Amino acid sequence: MHFKDFTFKSRLAYSIARAGFEEPSPIQQETIPLILDGKDVVGQAHTGTGKTAAFALPILQNITKRDGVGAVIIVPTRELATQVADEFYKFSRNLGMKTATVYGGTSYKRQLEHIANASVVVATPGRLLDLLDKQKINLTPKFMVLDEADEMLNMGFLEDVRRIFTYFPDRQQTLMFSATMPEEIKDLAQTLLKKPTFIRVEKEAITNNNIKQFYYVVDEHERDNAMLRLVESVNPKKSIVFCRTKRETARLAEFLEGQGYTTAALHGDMEQWDRQKTMKAFRRNEYAILVATDVAARGLDVRDVTHVFNYHIPFEAESYVHRIGRTGRAKNDGIAMMLVTPHELRELKRIQQDVGSELTLGAIPQKNGTVEDRMKTLFDMVKSQRTNKSGEMILDALTEDTDMKTVATKLVLLLEQTLVHDSAIGKSFDEVNKLLNDIGDDVESESKKSSRKYKAKSGKSSSSKNPRNKNRNSVRRGTNRGEVPEPTVKSVGGSRIVARKLY
Ligand SMILES: Nc1ncnc2c1ncn2[C@@H]1O[C@H](COP(=O)(O)OP(=O)(O)O)[C@@H](O)[C@H]1O
Ligand SMILES: [Mg+2]
Repeated sequence: MHFKDFTFKSRLAYSIARAGFEEPSPIQQETIPLILDGKDVVGQAHTGTGKTAAFALPILQNITKRDGVGAVIIVPTRELATQVADEFYKFSRNLGMKTATVYGGTSYKRQLEHIANASVVVATPGRLLDLLDKQKINLTPKFMVLDEADEMLNMGFLEDVRRIFTYFPDRQQTLMFSATMPEEIKDLAQTLLKKPTFIRVEKEAITNNNIKQFYYVVDEHERDNAMLRLVESVNPKKSIVFCRTKRETARLAEFLEGQGYTTAALHGDMEQWDRQKTMKAFRRNEYAILVATDVAARGLDVRDVTHVFNYHIPFEAESYVHRIGRTGRAKNDGIAMMLVTPHELRELKRIQQDVGSELTLGAIPQKNGTVEDRMKTLFDMVKSQRTNKSGEMILDALTEDTDMKTVATKLVLLLEQTLVHDSAIGKSFDEVNKLLNDIGDDVESESKKSSRKYKAKSGKSSSSKNPRNKNRNSVRRGTNRGEVPEPTVKSVGGSRIVARKLY
């Protein structure tokens, strides 16, 4: 689904596109239509899943500049007030609507001036209540939103919140968003909202089993070459490599480009215009590899991505799911490959258990180009090597008591072994099994049973209470534990290996 499917008014749609939003997140997909439909909604989803836009967009769709303050958003902290106001600003500036922030510790006068010109007010409870009690403001918003409700509870603001709501009896719609849903918050929702619809989005689960997932255990210094060999072995038509930092994306993109792959980097700090240009070119198949950060790839909806590579293991299980979900779209098959260092195996285990998905251990394809390829490479290397005085001196010393042909043969072989015939990269299955045994009990038995397969014992149970979300959100478990394990894939997609100069 695309944001265009919501048919927002054109100025709003324009701002959404400008912000780089393409695909609505699950909480947005579920709640936006209900809010547009005039319903009171309680939305529960993890941090970072786009809850702000889930209420900001339908609100902006439904209020106009002429209405005065059309929405009041209550947030627990000053930082959140700023963040939420920034998100509103992104979408509303093109509509000519202003957002005012209201929190303690700053002058009343300026805040009151801002409120007078605003369409949206984002406030912390203390200062808002203060202004209301002192009758400094008199607002009649259509929308009231309680954001990060669980935090409100933690910070002891619920009584203030209840009192605030008594000042807004004429509101038309009330919305509540929270990462978790303690009983107190549920109760509060029942008293403040009219027949609320509860929407709960669990961690996105891998419902998509047409994505084959592999991991490879390598040492830290082997990452670049391991990545290169994976790329070479599958020769991806259209792939995304995920990195953790923008620095890493830039460096890796340059490295892969230098190896002859059409590559572009995509990260959050790029100008919006540049990002869009890159994404368009990627869609048009101008790049075989897009090296991206999680942030940059958020909402990236490209249908025909054949491979997703994880250069680093992601910090969060959710990011993992999000990353690999960039492939296998629109019923296509997808392949996801991840590099993991021995150090990161614990992380891998945690992620597997969180998402309940299975990753198969693979081996980095070894380089064994044809004899002719290797000869050609060696020939090129020798031919292009310049000579100098010190080279001649070394040769003189070497040929003092050995004939020239023997010396030359030995040197050529040495060169071939050290430079042309690449050494093996990555840990063997036995080594990985040992490492896995070291880190955990359940993994040990699993990995022994299926000898080369590492899978989570079970996913976290997390069936959704809301039937709407059942399919999307149920976490899949590794159910086929008793089955014969599939053969481990050593090199996916055959090995198209090209010998190449390695200096
Ligand atoms: N559909 C989307 N596409 C791209 N980015 C999004 C989308 N929805 C939200 N974001 C971005 O994700 C980040 C986190 O969103 P936020 O609303 O703060 O999450 P939450 O309130 O759920 O913790 C923000 O930077 C926001 O701009
Ligand atoms: Mg939030």
